[in-house]
Amino acid sequence: MKKIYITSPLYYVNASPHIGHAYTEVMCDAVARFEKQRGHKVFFMTGSDEHGEKIENAALEAGFAAGEEKKFVDTIVPRFTSLWKKLNIGYDHFIRTTDKMHEEAVKKVLTLLYEKNKIYKKVYKGWFCTPCEAFWSDSQAKNGVCPDCGRRAEKLDEENYFFKISEYQNTLINHIKKKRAEKTPFIIPRMRENEVLSFLEKNKLQDLCVSRPKSRLSWGVEVPFDKNFVTYVWFDALVNYISGVGYADKESRFDSIWPAYGHFIGKDILRHHAVYWPIMLMAIGEKLPGHIFTHGWWVIKGEKMSKSKGNAVDPGVLIEKYGADALRYFLLSAVQFGHDGVFSEELFIRKYNDDLANDLGNLVNRTLTMVEKYFEGKIPGPPRGFGAGSLARKTKSLGGALEKTMGDFSFSGALAAIWELINAANKYIEDTAPWKLNREGKAEELTGFICELLEALRVIAISIYPFMPVTSGGIRKQLALKGSIEKVESLKTGAKISKAGPLFPRIQ
Ligand code: MSP
Repeated sequence: MKKIYITSPLYYVNASPHIGHAYTEVMCDAVARFEKQRGHKVFFMTGSDEHGEKIENAALEAGFAAGEEKKFVDTIVPRFTSLWKKLNIGYDHFIRTTDKMHEEAVKKVLTLLYEKNKIYKKVYKGWFCTPCEAFWSDSQAKNGVCPDCGRRAEKLDEENYFFKISEYQNTLINHIKKKRAEKTPFIIPRMRENEVLSFLEKNKLQDLCVSRPKSRLSWGVEVPFDKNFVTYVWFDALVNYISGVGYADKESRFDSIWPAYGHFIGKDILRHHAVYWPIMLMAIGEKLPGHIFTHGWWVIKGEKMSKSKGNAVDPGVLIEKYGADALRYFLLSAVQFGHDGVFSEELFIRKYNDDLANDLGNLVNRTLTMVEKYFEGKIPGPPRGFGAGSLARKTKSLGGALEKTMGDFSFSGALAAIWELINAANKYIEDTAPWKLNREGKAEELTGFICELLEALRVIAISIYPFMPVTSGGIRKQLALKGSIEKVESLKTGAKISKAGPLFPRIQ
């Protein structure tokens, strides 16, 4: 049994969640379920990023008075938690950066760094982009424009605290190279690792600004050694990965969980996770997480989906119309991990009809209809020599294909492997023409045929669990499999199936 600690990023609670947020969350949940199903002990943490200028502005815009930011975020956080519930996200802990223990941990890290002389104060002249919560130098923010989002940045000329991250640049490069050589890459996928390495090798790191003067921003964790400042929101937020597992308050718990197996993030926050975060950990003498898993973006008409661009798609509406599992399936199957994906409802419906209504839905429906028609609705006992057919062999090989694809974090690859079996099973029905076997009274052949199909369906039901937990449960129930998903359960001869209505009614 392995111990696996995985995390999602903490979502900014300035607005409602969209498909991009749901994507990271579904991915984490699929990994958590996949590993739990294999008997491993998983701790999956998600949460909300609640401080900083972006949130403060959103609170003011929403009509809350200065100082009432907590009241504002309290109205937004439930939008996330209720979406995660609808999507059946089985996280183990939801951390908020306004949690007392988190704030204590941020202060502990800052104090430690300050005492180690890794933090110093200087006048900062440069730019700050509030929507991105990012500092930029003059050369980066050409004409005062944020190089990431293209919006106007704000000119800053103020005293701030800086963290000497440049001291750790070479150690970080060596770490990334060492992990690569050991074939346990720190950054996944490879293209993102190359990006970070080339950035680190070509640029000297600028020390990281870790504070904001209270005269400009008061909504944050107070800097423990200077009450005129609050902590820069990114420094605050990254600490969640350790604060949520007891860094400041439960030492033995922390030691038993940390380091994380990996952090799941989008490519826009790669530098924060692959450069700043490991350096923060090195500087406070803690172990580094195993991996930084970096996914691409959901794009609409060539642009990243985001609330500020006005092209955000509400996952709640899709769930209402098509169900949570359909959305989970689309997000994980339609795009290769690490790459960008194009979102449109048209594509969604096409995939729903083709893969879910036609392929999977029909297979379940046809198979169970035949059990009702030819076997009085009871699971027949396998005939002698069962298991040698081509479908049975394909069914047996699915486990290996899943280990391989999920080992490479290829969610789309894992689903493609499951769908290969679904399609093979559908083809098997057409090729065998069971109605003929029945007509010709070939009882043993018909029994062998249906047993192969039922076995394929059992394995399919178990295999889709990490991705589509509700559908998995629904099919297992129809097959009279009543045990928990963690237990390997065989079909029971003589058990009565309970055929239900269509799993995925076709969308016109
Ligand atoms: N609060 C920071 C993360 C702090 S983690 C210590 C943040 N929040 S965010 O709400 O802007 O983004 C959260 C996650 O959603 C990121 O991983 C981001 O990549 C992801 N997505 C936001 N928009 C996205 C798409 N359009 N597509 C895919 N994922 C994207 O950054």
